[in-house]
Amino acid sequence: MAHRVLSGMRPTGKLHFGHYHGVLANWLRLQEEYECFFFVADWHALTTDYANPSNIKDNIREMVIDWLSVGIDPAKVTIFRQSSIKEHAELHVLLSMITPLPWLERNPTYKEQIEAIKEKDLLTFGFLGYPVLQTSDIIIYKASKVPVGIDQAPHLELSREITRRFNHFYGEVFPEPQTLLTAIPKVLGTDGRKMSKSYNNAIFLSDPPAEVEKKILTMMTDTARKRRTDVGSPDLCPFFLTFHNLYSNEETINWVREGCTKALIGCIECKKSVIPKVLAALEPVQKRRKELEADPKMITEILSEGAKKAAKVAQETMTHVREAMGLE
Ligand code: TRP
Ligand code: SF4
Repeated sequence: MAHRVLSGMRPTGKLHFGHYHGVLANWLRLQEEYECFFFVADWHALTTDYANPSNIKDNIREMVIDWLSVGIDPAKVTIFRQSSIKEHAELHVLLSMITPLPWLERNPTYKEQIEAIKEKDLLTFGFLGYPVLQTSDIIIYKASKVPVGIDQAPHLELSREITRRFNHFYGEVFPEPQTLLTAIPKVLGTDGRKMSKSYNNAIFLSDPPAEVEKKILTMMTDTARKRRTDVGSPDLCPFFLTFHNLYSNEETINWVREGCTKALIGCIECKKSVIPKVLAALEPVQKRRKELEADPKMITEILSEGAKKAAKVAQETMTHVREAMGLE
């Protein structure tokens, strides 16, 4: 059987350069090669934001606009919202019956997040069961390949274990989902840390060009290079590692390496050599965003068309699942 690819993103609102180079660029390649399902994991958003879900609706819209703006094409792939397909919840309940609690408690991502996120009470059933819901998202479409970053690898491992356990009890209903590990380039934010909305260091795909320029011009550089006359190291420069790596050709990169390490160029000059390329890449994306924003019904329609296609597959799978478990 041809591979079916599935991936999801929690609706965090407008996407930034990190999302683009980390996830979306990969989705754009995959949509040309495979049958793809890309969905908005809005129930997963509730695992952490249950106390204040008021932004989820807008976040979904903004995120899907970004997907489409960069070229994710609803004519080629199925785009939908998790919460439109109630079968995910039914399968989640059934999987929850067979998932040993220690598997979930051992999950390194779970332990890390409980430690890291102190401002929210994450000691809930739903948050512990995050990977069970994620497994249901994947196997309900019998997806064989799941493109995710390395941070999601433990979840995918759990998905395979749960799938094996299901097949062991009830027969070979599901293929084991394989991780399609995305090589994620380093995309650093304006303060030199990993680009992330929660660090307030992100450059968004929807930022107006003047804002993008301003953020780049104030972005952190090699901290050892305090004055124009100090030499610097591009390999220690968050700006270089992100923007020259992603947008400059070899010639420019060589010019920067020489100029920086010998203090022949200034940081502003260095930054200005890449800004036009970044803005040129953003231009068609922002043009499409404006078109989509002008037609609010378009996103709703795309999501509901996608949901119809997804529902068909999910319903068929659930018929098999109920039969296999003697629930029909
Ligand atoms: N956990 C994923 C994230 O935080 C989102 C997600 C939910 C997902 N269900 C999925 C990803 C199924 C891949 C497959 O990014
Ligand atoms: Fe970074 Fe360029 Fe400044 Fe060197 S010259 S520190 S590479 S911004």
